[in-house]
Amino acid sequence: MFWFGLIGLLSVVFILFYLYGTRTFSYWAKRGVRHDAPVPIFGTAKRQFLKEISFADIYAEMYQKYPNERFVGYYLMTTPVLILRDPDLVKHVLVSDFNYFSSRNVFPLDKHPEPLLKNLIMCEGDLWKFLRQRMTPAFTTGKLKAMFPLIVARAEKLQRVAGEAAASGAEVDVRDLMARYTTDFIGACGFGIDTDTLSDKNNMFRKLGHRIFVRGRRDMVVTILKFSMPSLMTSFHFFPPEVEHLMMTLVKTIMKERNYKHSGRNDYIDTILELKEQGKMVGESLVHKKADGTPCIAEIEMDDEILVAQVFMFFAAGFETSSAVTSYTLHELAHHPDHQRRCQEEIDSVLARHDNKVSYEALKEMKFLDMCFSEAMRIFPSIGFLQRMCVKPYTIPGTDITVDPGVNVIVPVKALHLDPQYFPDPEEFRPERFHPDNVSAINKYTYLPFGTGPRACIGERLGYMQSLAGLAALLSQFSVAPSISTLRKPIIDTKVLGVQSVKGGLPLTLIARKKTQ
Ligand code: HEM
Ligand SMILES: *[C@@H]1O[C@H](CO)[C@@H](O)[C@H](O)[C@H]1NC(C)=O
Repeated sequence: MFWFGLIGLLSVVFILFYLYGTRTFSYWAKRGVRHDAPVPIFGTAKRQFLKEISFADIYAEMYQKYPNERFVGYYLMTTPVLILRDPDLVKHVLVSDFNYFSSRNVFPLDKHPEPLLKNLIMCEGDLWKFLRQRMTPAFTTGKLKAMFPLIVARAEKLQRVAGEAAASGAEVDVRDLMARYTTDFIGACGFGIDTDTLSDKNNMFRKLGHRIFVRGRRDMVVTILKFSMPSLMTSFHFFPPEVEHLMMTLVKTIMKERNYKHSGRNDYIDTILELKEQGKMVGESLVHKKADGTPCIAEIEMDDEILVAQVFMFFAAGFETSSAVTSYTLHELAHHPDHQRRCQEEIDSVLARHDNKVSYEALKEMKFLDMCFSEAMRIFPSIGFLQRMCVKPYTIPGTDITVDPGVNVIVPVKALHLDPQYFPDPEEFRPERFHPDNVSAINKYTYLPFGTGPRACIGERLGYMQSLAGLAALLSQFSVAPSISTLRKPIIDTKVLGVQSVKGGLPLTLIARKKTQ
């Protein structure tokens, strides 16, 4: 009797679990949207949750598999996802119909109340709207120029560290080298402290960066459980407890040291403290409406958690993105010595006019370097896909298909960048695609390394200039060449979340240049 009871109970649990794990799976079929067949619990996302393929690559695969569709259905576990293929629809979702897609739905705060998730990248609704408004002035050209001396100092240190590597003759993982440059920049500009990651390989920040982006077993289990039963999992946080603790204590300590006042250092902590000084955030709500349809007035207190989350955001958003793409630029230049030489001649002549200093103004003149950088971001975009979530019922233009709030929408950036229809011979590194005479021919909804619309990258200019500064500093003194373990086509690391990363880094040889003058 007992065994029958137990087996019966287990069967019921199993059936309930099955029904729960498949409850949404008719969503796309009902709407006549083509898609792969989902499996219980994982949906169509089994391979990415088991880390067999990266998110960017699975979306690219779907893009390629359904060449005649304007959009393709997908199930991220049980969440219905729409993968866009048509650049016109991309424009609708990211720009013209943004009000329907103002959320990114990484981990909505109402389901996952976690301090670090209050950052601008991940938050939504009024908190996002108010923060975005208040933070936009922090990313103007003026602020960027004020921060520039801090960037130049890091670039000069990068030259010294690269010099040691070149002298030793050993191959250098430029991915690691550029990550240390970026981390150093984030330490100095983001946190207002000298981190010295460039010389010290085991630096805390470098480890922290690694811990945030490389998903371990703990993170994978927590992620799956949090996705499938959020309300039972609130005491487990998406970000590892050690990361959260370190961030909270570190940033609070720095703010206290400055007495919660602008220090004159012009770094990002100063900016954050200015946000705090402006007091409570008040404005028209993005989500709540009065009976007559006009928006309610909402207010949000600028508490310590929100401030810390914005510093964390600087780290999370600036770290892997720019090191991924600067190192990939070096990788391509190593394989294209002609383009590399042209970059170096340009850098030499521009710097000669600027007192041999990598300044903001000097970088603006390095047009060919800029083209190479843009082309590297096309082949290897740091963020291989963009994500939005539908927040009110939306009828897809040109169809009678309506998607509901909660449906995620994916713009498969990597697939668009590598579609021969938009970029002939897409695998080939051709900086001339981005020559000013050619750039206007590019449909801007097929080239999205920084996204676009109201939720585009807020740090685009900072990321761009910081990356160019590192590249110019390095190439002015060194050349790069393939070394023994260089792979022409690097292999994507599927363990890294969000940002595209390569297995085994990007090993190259650094050779000190003999300058003619
Ligand atoms: C080369 C470097 C960088 C690249 C390639 C990059 C790329 C991106 C991309 C693709 C997005 C998503 C845009 C979208 O969904 O439409 C994004 C968002 C964002 N990035 Fe960057 N980024 C870089 C550097 C930075 C830096 C240095 C910062 C800040 C300090 C930053 C802050 C942000 C923020 C806050 C968002 C979210 C904006 C919002 O949701 O309102 N990024 N970035
Ligand atoms: C524009 O692109 C075409 C085709 O790739 C190339 O032949 C041409 O040289 C480019 N123009 C410039 C000014 O680089």
